[in-house]
Amino acid sequence: MIKKGESFYPSSEVKKRAWLKNRAIYKEAAANPQKMWNKLALELQWMKKWRKIYAGDPPHFSWFVGAKSNITQNCLDRHLKLQKNKVAMIWEPENVAEPKRIYTYYDLYREVCKFSRALKKLGVKKGDRVGIYLPMIPEVVISMLACARLGAVHSVVFSAFSSNALQVRLEDAQAKILITADGYYRRGKIIELKKGADEGLDNTAVKKVIVVKRANIEVPWQEGRDVWYQDIIKDEIDAIDPVPMDSEDPLFILYTSGSTGKPKGCVHVCGGYMVQAYATDKWIFDINDEDIFWSTADIGWVTGHTYSCYGPLLNGATFLIFEGLADWPNADRWAQVIDKYGVTTFYTAPTAIRMFMKNGTEILKPYRLDTLQVIASVGEPISEKAWLWYFNEIGKGKCPLLDTWWQTETGGIIVTSLAGMGPFKPAFTGLPFPGVRVKILDDEGKECKAGKEGNLVLLPPFIPGLLRGIYNNEKKYLETYWSAYKNKMYISGDLGYRDKNGLIRVVGRADDQIKVAGHRLTTGEMESALAKNLSIAECAIVGVADEIKGEVPVVFVVSKTDIPADQLKAEVVRIIREEIGPIATPKEVFIVKDLPKTRSGKIMRRLLRKALSREEMGDLSTLSNPESVQQIQETVQGPRQA
Ligand code: PRX
Repeated sequence: MIKKGESFYPSSEVKKRAWLKNRAIYKEAAANPQKMWNKLALELQWMKKWRKIYAGDPPHFSWFVGAKSNITQNCLDRHLKLQKNKVAMIWEPENVAEPKRIYTYYDLYREVCKFSRALKKLGVKKGDRVGIYLPMIPEVVISMLACARLGAVHSVVFSAFSSNALQVRLEDAQAKILITADGYYRRGKIIELKKGADEGLDNTAVKKVIVVKRANIEVPWQEGRDVWYQDIIKDEIDAIDPVPMDSEDPLFILYTSGSTGKPKGCVHVCGGYMVQAYATDKWIFDINDEDIFWSTADIGWVTGHTYSCYGPLLNGATFLIFEGLADWPNADRWAQVIDKYGVTTFYTAPTAIRMFMKNGTEILKPYRLDTLQVIASVGEPISEKAWLWYFNEIGKGKCPLLDTWWQTETGGIIVTSLAGMGPFKPAFTGLPFPGVRVKILDDEGKECKAGKEGNLVLLPPFIPGLLRGIYNNEKKYLETYWSAYKNKMYISGDLGYRDKNGLIRVVGRADDQIKVAGHRLTTGEMESALAKNLSIAECAIVGVADEIKGEVPVVFVVSKTDIPADQLKAEVVRIIREEIGPIATPKEVFIVKDLPKTRSGKIMRRLLRKALSREEMGDLSTLSNPESVQQIQETVQGPRQA
């Protein structure tokens, strides 16, 4: 057990199983990062070796130049010789009474090959984009791997995103195939996913829809376009050669929030992403043979891609995927799962930790959590209170608690203390991964002193898994990540500081993106959706603190018709749920006369946040309409006392 203000160092027991326990690795890697990545890459199989490890002229750069590989060869074929019958993936369904499904490495290899062949027959080839809109069922992992085996670029869309959100992403990626399911279970009810998927196909290039039978429900069907997954794999041969991929060929596109309305398609490439997923999973989580690794994130997010699919498979590990939610049918569901499988490595988000904290430790008592050896957190800043609770109550004061900082763009973890070394300091993520050069800079580009907050940036040679672009949008790529410091370094968009020992604490975003229950959302995307409504003249959305979810959206709307307020508010909620999904449901909607703006017309969202938290507004002289502020304060806080 540790208390406020203390740090934890791993015990000799923890060190015994650790891949890295000697601090010298930091020095060695810093002196020559390429050498470290070279060594790690050599632990994997390549069809052709690289001419050069890294070549770069930022903002463009390449890793493992000239090499050929296929990630599925390393995820599957490589393990068949020595551990064909080892369990690769365990699937736990939402319904407690439904049987689990277990795939050995051989099972998974065969399923992936069958589906790859079926995709090939449907015309899928190297470079084609394939949309995947599936819940947490084994077929989502099989689909990603089946695409990768053919060299097709998968683009997974979170299954709880709405049809509109799916449509925008499919259209941007020009996907020609969509893989979805008839339906899935959410809190015991069936969500009709195929129906939603169909609504998301307008204006897209999708010619075939492959439907996994999961919920056994009737679905709308378009003859000639729709096929059942189970039918097309039924008679397939269970072997197909992996397509050789250049290191810099795209492996997947994953959409994430931008500061404006349209989501950005982050492009990750075959060679670099593979090496980074492999190395970070191994060294950070200390993956060992007998481990059961469980990352609770949905596969629709990057954590799902790297640590519920590629990372564990590249390491030949056993991992778990779960269809359900933390608190259904009861708040002990996750504890039940940890106990059932003897999970050793548990990776989750602060929002879940806060929920467990609120429910108290009593409900955890019936369960064995002592199989846990490493616990970890990702997705948002974790408070000292939540950190201590997670460490003491779940990790029983003996498990390293890794607070891992990274982003969709970085492909894998960038900053965290390593399990075998520590230190684990509440609310601090720790040191950059060996060989990764992170700096904290002020707006002029000067390095911040310890304790001073600044912009987190990455310096060359970056990391092999860093995104290589935004799909079809070079301008956005340059503007978002590179232009702030003259194309010399990658700007993460996050703010953080170091303590006097160099440990990094990430405090949040420097822009208007928000994190709702760990899900990265852009207020811009929601605002664009609302702006299409004829009753809405203008709107602005900000994130406010929430005890469980971390942040939640609050909407400010200026109406341009005489529609009754209640009706307009309901309309706002409906549009956001339909256009983005239920996770983005606003906590509150305020109808205001005007929004505070600068003279150049920029909405001052900072003032809206201040009004919500009842802070002093400060100097309003740069506003073109300072009178709007008092009216907003009155709307939010009630009329002011005279
Ligand atoms: O603001 C940071 C926050 O999540 C953002 C990345 O979100 P996303 O691309 O959805 O990827 C989430 C999983 C990697 C970051 O820009 N974030 C992520 N991890 C942490 C964090 N903030 C504080 N502490 C973390 N450990």
